[in-house]
Amino acid sequence: MPEDKALGFNMVTCSAPVNIAVIKYWGKRDEELILPINSSLSVTLHQDQLRTTTTVACSRSFEEDRIWLNGREEDITLPRLQSCLREVRRLARKRHSDGDPAGLSHKFHICSVNNFPTAAGLASSAAGYACLVYSLARVLGVEGELSVVARQGSGSACRSMYGGFVQWTMGQREDGKDSIAQQVAPETNWPELRVLVLVVSAERKLVGSTSGMQTSVETSSLLKHRAECVVPGRMEQMIRAVKKRDFATFAELTMKDSNQFHATCLDTYPPVFYLNDVSRRIINLVHRYNRHCGETRVAYSFDAGPNAVIFTLQEHTAEFFQVGGTFFPPETNGEQFLKGLPITGVTLSEELKEAIGMEPLVKGISYIISPKAGPGPCVMEDPPQHLLCPDGLPK
Ligand code: DP6
Repeated sequence: MPEDKALGFNMVTCSAPVNIAVIKYWGKRDEELILPINSSLSVTLHQDQLRTTTTVACSRSFEEDRIWLNGREEDITLPRLQSCLREVRRLARKRHSDGDPAGLSHKFHICSVNNFPTAAGLASSAAGYACLVYSLARVLGVEGELSVVARQGSGSACRSMYGGFVQWTMGQREDGKDSIAQQVAPETNWPELRVLVLVVSAERKLVGSTSGMQTSVETSSLLKHRAECVVPGRMEQMIRAVKKRDFATFAELTMKDSNQFHATCLDTYPPVFYLNDVSRRIINLVHRYNRHCGETRVAYSFDAGPNAVIFTLQEHTAEFFQVGGTFFPPETNGEQFLKGLPITGVTLSEELKEAIGMEPLVKGISYIISPKAGPGPCVMEDPPQHLLCPDGLPK
């Protein structure tokens, strides 16, 4: 990390992962502090396939805080960005109360990029805010519990502060100090677990999660029932399933919870639709495949968009990938259909194809990303990885 205290210049580059909730967060009890109406649990995806990288420079010579996202300068006065900047500076002030200013009076230049297309509708705000908070904390020498800060950027971002399997406990306090993320198990606890992100061709979503969940809280009685009576039990069952590597239970809970989340969207008034025809075909495909196999080998989960996240085990990955490519044949324009960990080809039996019995839908899926579960945010030690030049402007 190039650090020159005499010149009052300090720069750090970090990366942070995307996470996919298997028990969904949907609904806030406090909009400003981003406090949820229920706890949630997620799987952190490996950063080799999906990550945000952020460089933060802090210098006496900068006149104002500035931020560039994916090559474009953005408005730094956005309230959620301001919350994160304010909270990390407050923690730094507390930590350096002995008088060491450690760049506290200096302004930040922040530059952030994703290694996946933002338009793909993957959880980019979670990785983005987690990376921002982690990098700001590193540049100011702040350590300790940072998920409460990331939460104030975007709720789901607090879970991207850890690797593996992560729970976000809703907490009870009004100040949100007990609404934190914690690791339930590291990714190494379940190395056989595999993920396939099926990127569904679609236009940009019509209703963002922030406003969608706001309307759900105001109008859906099913959401209230879910938060109070369903999620607490599911959280306990899910934590047990993850610790025991009980795939059948993990998979069933994951699918039921995704379905209930989308049911609350339909129960919202006016209703919010995130699944499209391709998503619903994928749901059918998974159930038909599992039924044919006589056991639950594959699970799906959908967030606020039509992309499917498939969970399966190493031993079934190749076959299900083939199933996906057979019933959603890719466009043959030479574009890579599989991005991520390699998957060896297998031949599907006629019996399996007949049992599934669906008409193939050409181009329904644009491409498939295949990660595993992965670790949390980290510092990128290699200086050439910085996204800002020594003058503090993007490269
Ligand atoms: C469906 O974290 O994007 O992905 O807190 O308003 O920024 P804000 O919402 P966000 O919501 C994510 C909702 C979800 C489910 C989940 O990730 O738990």
